[in-house]
Amino acid sequence: DLPPRVRIHEVGARDGLQNEQSVVPTEIKAEFVHRLADAGLTTIEATSFVHPKWVPQLADAERLFPLLGDLQGVHLPVLVPNERGLERALALGAHRVAVFASATESFAKANLNRTVDEALTMFDPVVSRAREQKMHVRGYLSMCFGDPWEGPVPVGQVVRVCRALLDMGCDELSLGDTIGVATPGHVRALLTALNEADVPTDRVGVHFHDTYGQALANTLAALQHGVTTVDASAGGLGGCPYAKSATGNLATEDLVWMLHGLGIETGVDLGRLSATSAWMAGHLGRPSPSRTVRALTHQ
Ligand code: HMG
Ligand code: MG
Repeated sequence: DLPPRVRIHEVGARDGLQNEQSVVPTEIKAEFVHRLADAGLTTIEATSFVHPKWVPQLADAERLFPLLGDLQGVHLPVLVPNERGLERALALGAHRVAVFASATESFAKANLNRTVDEALTMFDPVVSRAREQKMHVRGYLSMCFGDPWEGPVPVGQVVRVCRALLDMGCDELSLGDTIGVATPGHVRALLTALNEADVPTDRVGVHFHDTYGQALANTLAALQHGVTTVDASAGGLGGCPYAKSATGNLATEDLVWMLHGLGIETGVDLGRLSATSAWMAGHLGRPSPSRTVRALTHQ
């Protein structure tokens, strides 16, 4: 059975732009987010309050966020790794934040300069304070399927960190296939193991990168398991600067094409969305990797 409606968590402005060689001007980012909202997306991850030296592409968070203040009815979550990040987000009036853990030691070290457990210790006060402020908190978990240094990741290792993030107070989880190596059977196995550890499917979103072209197949497997929150990035932008083998996220257009074909509602206007990705591709100087964007905009 498939759900009647899917909530798309759009990550193009954050996951997409964090990985661009060139730094996109703040005004273009603001226009991008506005255009995504005009296309009907209602959860648009805007930026990250991380160390500017670690992700220079998003160092303009303080200038960008206020330019989005006029967006009504749109959630604008932001990434915060630590209390310093949360303070920056609170100072700008953000309502939704996300912490980002790792299922593997190698990536925890590369991305956060911490062990897996040290990172959880770093997030703990962030999540409690955010919840005191009535913020919605998402807990990302990277390397849920495979890791560029460690290879396939044991399901038990992933379940342990998911449980810790929920116990800490995260409202929802997002299971990251950071380097895009997952296949549908692995997705089903992980979701089943999570249920066995009392992690309900309605608290779980999926975040697939499309390195091996499996993102849509993996998404369908997740939907069949009952997942209704799917992360995607307009035009298939994306990657992670601290995981070399990561390429773009599942393209939002490819996702919407499949969902609408299945009769699943998204609220997204595919024509407007692909025009936005074509416009952004013009700014970035290369065509969108999304097959759907290319088909619809004749790129
Ligand atoms: P660190 O070097 O260990 O930092 O980095 P620290 O805690 O030792 O602090 C050092 C200095 O940085 C201090 O300044 C802090 O104030 C400052 P000093 O006292 O020396 O002058 N500092 C900050 N400044 C601004 N904003 C902050 C902040 N924090 C500390 N938030 C740190 C640790 C977590 C900061 C660093 O590793 C970091 O910023 N990492 C972010 C990496 C990142 O953004 N990666 C991409 C997002 S994750 C992803 O893409 C995966 C995902 O898409 C899911 C998937 O696909 O799997 C979500
Ligand atoms: Mg990602």
